[in-house]
Amino acid sequence: MDLFEYQAKELFAEYGVPVQRGRVASTPEEAREIAAGYAAEGSPLVVVKAQVKAGGRGKAGGVKLANGPDEADDKARQILGMDIKGHTVHKVLIAEASDIAQEYYLSFLLDRAARTFVAICSVQGGVEIEEVAHTNPEAVARIPVDPLTGVDAAKAAEIIEAGGLPPEAAGQAALLAERLWSVFADEDATLVEVNPMALTDQGDVLAVDGKVSLDDNAAFRQDHAKFADPEAADPLEAKAKAKHLNYVKLDGQVGIIGNGAGLVMSTLDVVALAGEPFGGMRPANFLDIGGGASAEVMADGLEIVLSDASVRSVLVNVFGGITSCDAVANGIVSAIGMLAAQGQEVRHPIVVRLDGNNAEEGRRILADAGLPVVEQVATMDDAARRAAELAAAAPTGA
Ligand SMILES: Nc1ncnc2c1ncn2[C@@H]1O[C@H](COP(=O)(O)OP(=O)(O)OP(=O)(O)O)[C@@H](O)[C@H]1O
Ligand SMILES: [Mg+2]
Repeated sequence: MDLFEYQAKELFAEYGVPVQRGRVASTPEEAREIAAGYAAEGSPLVVVKAQVKAGGRGKAGGVKLANGPDEADDKARQILGMDIKGHTVHKVLIAEASDIAQEYYLSFLLDRAARTFVAICSVQGGVEIEEVAHTNPEAVARIPVDPLTGVDAAKAAEIIEAGGLPPEAAGQAALLAERLWSVFADEDATLVEVNPMALTDQGDVLAVDGKVSLDDNAAFRQDHAKFADPEAADPLEAKAKAKHLNYVKLDGQVGIIGNGAGLVMSTLDVVALAGEPFGGMRPANFLDIGGGASAEVMADGLEIVLSDASVRSVLVNVFGGITSCDAVANGIVSAIGMLAAQGQEVRHPIVVRLDGNNAEEGRRILADAGLPVVEQVATMDDAARRAAELAAAAPTGA
């Protein structure tokens, strides 16, 4: 899970990583109120920052300086609702502005290729860091961090020195690095990034921006649910998760159900390819029913896939291994019956390809059931083509 900047900074503050004061607003009026509060305390200059989980917000016009409440209201009005790299801005952070003398870069991340944690530090931070890494890679230091020893004061000093930070910033930057490592380690993050880490005219070093990615595999021992973003959650994904099904929303027209992530992913590719001659039909979603394909699992799966309004046809692609195809076939038959009994009559065509363990019996069960919406196709390629063809032929919005 990725955090918004304001959430990352709340976390930083808990660990003693210095950040500017700031509060998040969902409306221009709230932005005005927050800015008025800071102005009343003698800090009228604020920065209004789009809260989206994407980089390059500043360049997209999502970071604007404002002098006083009127301007904060105005800038928030401009930024709220803006689209930045496909993300709609629902919130802005109103942060106190700092007089920035220099901008540095600091991050900790899991380097899977190198099989270690790594610190990245550079004196040339700021919005051009990607460019610097590209054109002047020696200006960006990468220092491996041993997970057993982590980052103590000496290691932090080594990282900051390797980044080439000047002496007037080095001491505070090292302390920031040590605390940032605590965020990384204690919160089970896979990335913590501060860009820019700024030296102010007053000689303070602080985190002006923050990116944090948390490792979802550690959710059981962390209190990370509080960071969840209900606005971004797809309701069907949430429903699938509650039923322990892996469902991912995509943007095509063919609903995909399969057993096992590998098979499902190759099905996506085959459908995308087969859909090209049919006006570019593509997978609408993917749902992995896993090893068990009981009637109930299949009913849950079909219900979720069919509730996706963009679905025009469904492809069920099952290779029976431990699961036997007769169980899957029975699952499909009773799923369609269960949905009809709930008043959710299945109207979209369902193309089924069964192979592997007990496939013949499975095909017979489906054929005997004589369900008008179900069509069996023997191979994966042919089934994908048929599903794409049916999707293309379906009346839109049906
Ligand atoms: N509170 C602040 N006070 C002063 N300047 C700021 C403040 N916040 C941001 N800035 C300036 O705006 C620039 C861009 O801000 P920031 O790094 O937060 O957003 P960004 O463009 O999204 O960065 P990234 O590309 O890393 O996502 C900073 O490099 C800094 O110069
Ligand atoms: Mg930044």
